[in-house]
Amino acid sequence: MSISEQQVQQWNEELKDASPRQIIEFALEKFSNISISFSGAEDVVLVDMAQRIRKDVPVFTLDTGRLHIETYQFLEKVRDHYNLPIEVMFPQPETVQKLVSEKGLFSFYKDDHKECCGIRKIEPLKRKVATLDAWITGQRKDQSPGTRADIPVVQVDAGLAAPGQMLVKFNPLANWSSERVWNYIRTNEVPYNELHEKGFTSIGCEPCTKAILPGQHEREGRWWWEDATKKECGLHAVNIQE
Ligand code: ADX
Ligand code: SF4
Repeated sequence: MSISEQQVQQWNEELKDASPRQIIEFALEKFSNISISFSGAEDVVLVDMAQRIRKDVPVFTLDTGRLHIETYQFLEKVRDHYNLPIEVMFPQPETVQKLVSEKGLFSFYKDDHKECCGIRKIEPLKRKVATLDAWITGQRKDQSPGTRADIPVVQVDAGLAAPGQMLVKFNPLANWSSERVWNYIRTNEVPYNELHEKGFTSIGCEPCTKAILPGQHEREGRWWWEDATKKECGLHAVNIQE
């Protein structure tokens, strides 16, 4: 299927008021070579919804090597609960080894997180999406007023596509609030990461994520030593380019 940018914009128009389930259904109907990018946090609702539509829906996760033990346990819980093979993408050992040998294990506190995220998240993600026609993410507008307030439910991912590749990105939860996501999790008895019971709202790598206080925005628990405008690691580069 050859898809134009105009076609994707038209889909976005058609789907802008659709429910996450309808968006996922549409995505799975249009694309067979598609996968859910699951972080091991509350984006588990994507897995739950998609798996009700297609039992063997493809799911992948990026193991940076620096996740919390609770996240590793949760990934396995989801794998068992849904009887789903979750594909785990790892960074290139040579580049991790070079970074750690030259700059140590916590270079991101001094240099900012871009280099480490580039090696541990972005390169493996690019390697994965290069094999796909479309991917599905759990991004929401309310996650980051600075960078995600305008995310569409479907878009062309010019930020991550390989040269000449047309990569489509679905964000079925774009218009859902955190509250709606959590209502879904509770109502449908969806398994969740234990870190959520320990004050964590947004969950990333262990050294770069902390619990937040009541009233703080969820993004304040991520890369808290950096300027708020830099709080995208590059997985969603298209948010910054637009
Ligand atoms: S990040 O860019 O700041 O790290 P965030 O944690 O908000 O992203 O998650 C938004 C979406 O990005 C997730 O719902 C998921 O689709 C994708 N994502 C983030 N981290 C990962 C990961 N480690 N593995 C797979 N997908 C991820
Ligand atoms: Fe490295 Fe932190 Fe980025 Fe994880 S979030 S890849 S530990 S800089």
